[in-house]
Amino acid sequence: MFRARGKVALRHGWTFWRRSIQARVVVTTVLLTVLAVGVVGWFLLQQTRQGLLEHRVSVVVAEASSEVQDARTRLGAASGIDVDASGQRRDLVEPIIQRGLTRGFEVLLAGPVTGAGDGRIANGGAEFSPSLDIRSVPVRLEEHFARPSAATAWTYTSIRNRTSSGAETSVPGVVVGSQVQLPADGQTYTLYFLFPLEDEQDTLHLVVRAMLAAAALLILLIAAVAWLVARQVVTPIRMARRVAERLAAGQLQERLRVTGEDDLARLALSFNQMASALQTQIRQLEDLSRVQRRFTSDVSHELRTPLTTVRMASDVLHDARGDFDPGTARAAELLQSELDRFEGLLVDLLEISRFDAGAAVLETDDVNLVDVAHREAEAARPLAEQRGVRLVVVAPRHPCLAEADVRRVERIVRNLVANAIDHAAESEQIQVYVDGDDHSAAIAVRDHGVGLAPGEAAMVFNRFWRADPARARSTGGTGLGLSISLEDTHLHGGWLQAWGRPGEGAQFRLTLPRRVGAPLRRSPIPLVPADADPAELARPVVSSPAPADAPGQQADQPRDHAAGGPGDGAAGQPGDTGDSR
Ligand SMILES: Nc1ncnc2c1ncn2[C@@H]1O[C@H](COP(=O)(O)OP(=O)(O)O)[C@@H](O)[C@H]1O
Ligand SMILES: [Mg+2]
Repeated sequence: MFRARGKVALRHGWTFWRRSIQARVVVTTVLLTVLAVGVVGWFLLQQTRQGLLEHRVSVVVAEASSEVQDARTRLGAASGIDVDASGQRRDLVEPIIQRGLTRGFEVLLAGPVTGAGDGRIANGGAEFSPSLDIRSVPVRLEEHFARPSAATAWTYTSIRNRTSSGAETSVPGVVVGSQVQLPADGQTYTLYFLFPLEDEQDTLHLVVRAMLAAAALLILLIAAVAWLVARQVVTPIRMARRVAERLAAGQLQERLRVTGEDDLARLALSFNQMASALQTQIRQLEDLSRVQRRFTSDVSHELRTPLTTVRMASDVLHDARGDFDPGTARAAELLQSELDRFEGLLVDLLEISRFDAGAAVLETDDVNLVDVAHREAEAARPLAEQRGVRLVVVAPRHPCLAEADVRRVERIVRNLVANAIDHAAESEQIQVYVDGDDHSAAIAVRDHGVGLAPGEAAMVFNRFWRADPARARSTGGTGLGLSISLEDTHLHGGWLQAWGRPGEGAQFRLTLPRRVGAPLRRSPIPLVPADADPAELARPVVSSPAPADAPGQQADQPRDHAAGGPGDGAAGQPGDTGDSR
């Protein structure tokens, strides 16, 4: 449970990090400052340490030399006769030890040095300050003085002491060694002076503490500065984002507040100008399209009354055509058929203006698309036979259900089948495929006629668009069929898409969600027919494409465009081509 909570917190933190420029600026600045302060601090510390130590070492070496000098003078003054060596040794070192106690250094006298490796401190016999641990003199320095007349030398060490209570202490220090000759036995002895570096260490600690405090303060200050500076930039950006969101949501009168004359103010100014320009344009377009729609709707309504009268007159003429001479009779027939077309066009126009007015309503029911396909195929069979084409329905045994308005779905399929018959080649076969799954149901109408040129697949749904106006006029289309079908499809939240290649025919596919308004992700039928796509040839036949057609949309527009090559065309209606719908 804690782990889950930790994960959630981590995710929130990550989201915050990704979304907040301010957080990123502050964190990056702080990290870089820590790095810079670390490097500079380290450098300063090294310099200070070196300076302190160098100074101290020069002082202690001078002090040790003067002590040795002093000792030599004393020894020189002493008579070398009648005095035993150990007494003289004690005389030599005692005063120095005493002075060391007051001045804060310690002394050790080792020897005699014979050059044969004896006389080591560890072997005993050395004289030294009370409480000094003889291991304080490093062996390396001792080795330097292993032979007589070695030069004065120094090194760093840690000075150990045993206090009266028996506890051991250890402080860093410098040890300076120098040799003297004892007149009593003529042997060489080594004097070691051990100076503690405690004061320097304290100073250094003080410097480190001060520097750490200063660094912490500096980092805090810089973080605050970065936060403030980032805020100055981020606040207007956030404001602009909010206003842009409101603009996008349709509140076209939203504007940014402009203060000052800096870059951000100029950005806000340009943003506002852009918003104003867009607002004007959108208003104009809205007005224009409103006028256009009103016009279509008004004209269609106005035409209805005179058309009814003309129709009645034409019916009279048509009925009486047997009494006319052949020319007039032919004219009466033409009048009748053109009036049919006119009426069809008017019905379509009225339907379109109903969609435009938002007056179209869905009367939904569970519709089995298999039944719809059979019904429409039956209804179109006489026309198909007349044109010499065959109609086959390829449907699964199970029902393909969708919640839909059956009248509208029938109208869509009727239009698709009629188009296919119109554009099919002589004596060919038109297939009506039906399939469905748990989420959607689809009908595809495939013909092998003239097909669609590249780019036409997207245009067929435009109002009044016809690939060949002359041809369409001869077959009686108004050019409104597919746009009405598309509006019907949109009412259901479905897809209506076209694929076609010149000379290879076309396929129109209607996909409806199982429930109205449920998002569509894939269609049970591929948009590109199996026989047209070389990549599909290896797959099972189209009547059961659902399992073979794994990630649904792949079978749709993107791959078709990419793989189809020249002369290929497939498209959905505008806004329907994305995966999201
Ligand atoms: N199956 C098809 N094959 C080739 N072109 C087609 C097909 N279906 C439709 N089209 C093209 O789309 C145009 C628009 O179709 P539609 O909106 O139904 O109007 P209409 O059928 O009245 O011409 C047609 O004129 C034709 O050029
Ligand atoms: Mg049509």
